[in-house]
Amino acid sequence: MTKCFSNRARAGFRSFGVAALATAILTIGCLAPGTLGFAAKAQTASASDPWWKHAVVYEIYPRSFQDSNGDGVGDLNGIASRLDYLKSLGVDAIWISPMYPSPQVDFGYDISNYEAIDPKYGTLADMDRLVADAKKRNIRVVLDMVLNHTSDKHQWFIDAASSRTNPKHDWYVWNDGKPGDGPGSHEGRVPPNNWVSLFGGSAWEWVPAVHQFYYHEFYKQQPDLNWRNPAVEKEMFDSMRFWLDRGVAGFRLDAIPTLFEDPQLRDERELGGINAQGDPNLDDSLTNNLPEVHDVVRRMRAMVAKYPGDRVLIGETYLPNTAELDKWYGGTAHDELQLPMDMLIGFHGNRDKLDVASFRQHIEEVGTQIHGSQPLIVFDNHDNVRAIDRYGDGMHNDQINKVLATLLFTTRSTALMYYGEELGMTTTTPTRREDVKDPIGITGWPKEKGRDGERTPMQWDAGPQAGFSTNALTWLPIPPSHKTVNVAVESKDPNSELEWFNHLTALRRTNPALRGGGMTMLDTANPDVLSYLRSNGSGTAVVVAMNFTSEPRTISLDLTSAGITGATVKTLAADDASLNSITTLKNVTLPPYASWVAAVK
Ligand code: NOJ
Repeated sequence: MTKCFSNRARAGFRSFGVAALATAILTIGCLAPGTLGFAAKAQTASASDPWWKHAVVYEIYPRSFQDSNGDGVGDLNGIASRLDYLKSLGVDAIWISPMYPSPQVDFGYDISNYEAIDPKYGTLADMDRLVADAKKRNIRVVLDMVLNHTSDKHQWFIDAASSRTNPKHDWYVWNDGKPGDGPGSHEGRVPPNNWVSLFGGSAWEWVPAVHQFYYHEFYKQQPDLNWRNPAVEKEMFDSMRFWLDRGVAGFRLDAIPTLFEDPQLRDERELGGINAQGDPNLDDSLTNNLPEVHDVVRRMRAMVAKYPGDRVLIGETYLPNTAELDKWYGGTAHDELQLPMDMLIGFHGNRDKLDVASFRQHIEEVGTQIHGSQPLIVFDNHDNVRAIDRYGDGMHNDQINKVLATLLFTTRSTALMYYGEELGMTTTTPTRREDVKDPIGITGWPKEKGRDGERTPMQWDAGPQAGFSTNALTWLPIPPSHKTVNVAVESKDPNSELEWFNHLTALRRTNPALRGGGMTMLDTANPDVLSYLRSNGSGTAVVVAMNFTSEPRTISLDLTSAGITGATVKTLAADDASLNSITTLKNVTLPPYASWVAAVK
């Protein structure tokens, strides 16, 4: 494993390095295609299923969704004003990236008070109103919870850094360092080991007042909390309860695998080469995904389970393989996160391409190797180049975005999407260093240009500020693409990406096979077309086929392995009119990058 941020254009935000990737590929290579048939017959959606099991969860980056007060930055009242849009898109829950008070060094992921709202975004009353207004539309609100670190401006850290005897001192990770006078030395001491921050440079920062270094996985303004101190867990669980008591539906847990570090502070192994920030690539197994974290997560699950209404824990879990992912559910005990994100399917690292065999393999693997838990597929977020750009070929990007949406909404998974994905919004990376807002883009320029490109304002209409703000100066510029890629234009075009998303979320809600049915891969030797059957075992079945190539491909699907013979079909969704009149599964020609969903009769 390594901290691999330099390849963000091609890799997951926190993806895994050369060694782990090679292992993953080898593992995949060992399994013959089609050997992992799903128990398609056994599964049905049940009325007692928790809401999150069939949900569409929509990530909102609050700075960028809707500005209601004309300051050029999005806010909570802005989100509230767009709830009807979210409802019509079929969204069941919104996850709001951090909106707590923060110096905004990492745009909210540096929290200085866990039980309040940043004045830029509104007030607690605004948040209560947003939760209530969303509830009226049956939309739940999930908050982002940053447990690994606080802001260095949080009172806890200010106290902790004031003296070694302050009661808060041990809430963070401190070390005296070792004797030395090389680079990074202070008072004849150097950091205790070679650990580097994911955001560049040593992970250790000196504080003269206490003559010690503190550890920071991310920016130096984000000191890591010491989760070996039980007082930290108690305080953070209290903050979570503060929000659960106000009616939030759960949390997305930021960087949750990084809560613990090796207590012996051993050096991490060098993997060779340097990353975009100029640091050596390290195997991060001493600072990431340590086993101790699972005890905390089990206690957290038990705490959250005391609340009514199926509150949910979603994990930001970049992991090297499905076996590790399963541990985050609690394996057979199912007592950890309900929904750790499966980053293996949407963020392949250097393999971000539409490769049928690897998608087929991974979808089968996650369907069969997580002990019946619910997968959570995701392709886009605020840390990575948008999927349309990562997977797109430059010529068929719209169709490719529709293929990704088809995967997202028609496999057996909870669906997690990111604002603008439904429009085909693209990554608009700054072209000049002086325009960059994300600090890693400033320090890493030009190799790492930061994450501004995937955080640009939501494109509501073709007006000058895209309907996002009345202020001519928005916190990030409005991309020129907003003239054609926007909600107003696309909602009038039946072939738009927005309409494709609308159509699929509606199908998923109403069709029992898509909602809760099992899944069987079809035509498993086909290298170009991914096809599968969703079936609820009591008469409703749907076939899905996607052409992953730029040439037409003809398929014939045989459903006998799923106990269905002589099937006729009726198209439910197709992004090419030629597929609307198909009635059998023999010799179906899919145009380039076509997606096709059909009911089996
Ligand atoms: C993951 C978040 O998604 C990212 O935006 C943030 O910078 C880091 N965690 C640190 O909190």
